[in-house]
Amino acid sequence: MTKLHILSNRLPFSVKKNDEKIELIPSVGGLATGMKSVYGQFEGSWIGWPGVELDTCTTEQLLEMNAMLKEEKCIPVHLTHNETLHYYEGFCNKTIWPLFHYFTQYAEYDAADWESYVNVNRKFADAALSIIGDDDYIWIHDYHLLLVPQMIKETKPSVTIGFFLHIPFPSFEVFRLLPWRMEILNGLLGADLIGFHTFDYERHFFSCVRRLIGYDITLNHINAPDRLILVDAFPMGIDYMKFHESSRHLDKQSENEKSDFTKQLEDFILQSPDRKLILSIDRMDYTKGIPHRLKAFANFLQNYPEYRQKVTLIMLAVPSRDEVEHYQLLKKEVDELVGKINGMFGDINYTPIWYFYRSMPYQNLVELYHACDVALITPVRDGMNLVAKEYVAARTGIDGCIILSEMAGAAKELGEAILVNPNNDNEIAEAIRQAISMPADEQQERMERLQDRIKRYDVFKWAAEFVNSMHKVQHLQSEYN
Ligand code: UDP
Ligand code: G6P
Repeated sequence: MTKLHILSNRLPFSVKKNDEKIELIPSVGGLATGMKSVYGQFEGSWIGWPGVELDTCTTEQLLEMNAMLKEEKCIPVHLTHNETLHYYEGFCNKTIWPLFHYFTQYAEYDAADWESYVNVNRKFADAALSIIGDDDYIWIHDYHLLLVPQMIKETKPSVTIGFFLHIPFPSFEVFRLLPWRMEILNGLLGADLIGFHTFDYERHFFSCVRRLIGYDITLNHINAPDRLILVDAFPMGIDYMKFHESSRHLDKQSENEKSDFTKQLEDFILQSPDRKLILSIDRMDYTKGIPHRLKAFANFLQNYPEYRQKVTLIMLAVPSRDEVEHYQLLKKEVDELVGKINGMFGDINYTPIWYFYRSMPYQNLVELYHACDVALITPVRDGMNLVAKEYVAARTGIDGCIILSEMAGAAKELGEAILVNPNNDNEIAEAIRQAISMPADEQQERMERLQDRIKRYDVFKWAAEFVNSMHKVQHLQSEYN
């Protein structure tokens, strides 16, 4: 029977070691949360890294985690300390991640990191090849595994390979800076279907293929010498009904059903009836524009003193890649800025920013989406940004307002948000004022349209369209040859 397997660096569950005990916790990030909703529908396995270094585990722990992951239909690819250092922290997160997000000044070009990237991609390809049948489908995800499509195609050409990139694909002028640009493009061109979040990323990719490899492109088909490759934009959705129903449950629950977290939020709002809550949720990542956002919030309090005491920013920053220097520097900068702003504008009764540096369980995330009047989402670059869509889904009162960066892929779909340039502190400050004073009927009008759209193109539709396109490309290829 034909199967569809998933391959990504990070599995939907990461292993946490508490003393000697092994625990599986849900992974954070758009890829893991989005794909986790759909992968139960596929006959096949999810192959990926469980998030711990092989050298730090005993044989018993390895056996135990492999068994726990097997229960979840996951097959682990274990990485050593040296591999996480050079492949994951190195080439993935010091080269590709900054470069593809236009942080060219952060990108490092290190031959040892590249060598490790090639070797680890081979390791993932071998893990996949050991389980996939000749006629199976494989769906490979994201920037960690850009070489795997070619590695699999060379060994098993009959397998249909889909690749989806969850981050931006940069313009040719930026992509060409990469010393291994030809290897990366050829790696990707091993796929039969290549998907991006937006048409702009697709266009940049075509431009690189045309200028660096010289293949002919008609509409969205690349005419490679041996076969046709289909490229398309698939804006990733969320599990809308899951967020919506969880939030609806909060509307209906009785006093003694409420969690402590909900009660605390409600008590806080009741202390001052016209208090407004602004929400910000991201991984602690320099692409998310957190310092600019904080400065904009300070400008807002400075420019509109009448809102002091009345507006609180709840900022959740989830620890991420904290072994990488630029992430450590960012954490320091954010800690200092939060302290400075709270010191400048706060008093005994007022803390302008509630800052949490940790991840939160799903239920608390929904409670935050449900309680906050405004979502402030201002990445300087973001492939998509699912948090924006989750906020929309959780607004069961058809109210609330999103301030969204025009540099997020999601801005292409969420035109009813207040769109801002994330580098313009004053524009963001003005948008905060506009959002918290927006009339209820305008909020409703915007939110209704947003909800309609996000509900219609949810993560299930997204996955179904991608898989349908994998079937379609097989058909197109048979006509091409
Ligand atoms: N998220 C989570 N735990 C948290 C905070 C966020 O699981 O404590 C999830 C959030 O619900 C969302 C994802 O992490 O689905 C973040 O995805 P997004 O596309 O916004 O950004 P990414 O982290 O992928 O860059
Ligand atoms: C982004 C990437 C994902 C990644 C996630 C979390 O969403 O597109 O591939 O899994 O960030 O980052 P991490 O490095 O912890 O896997």
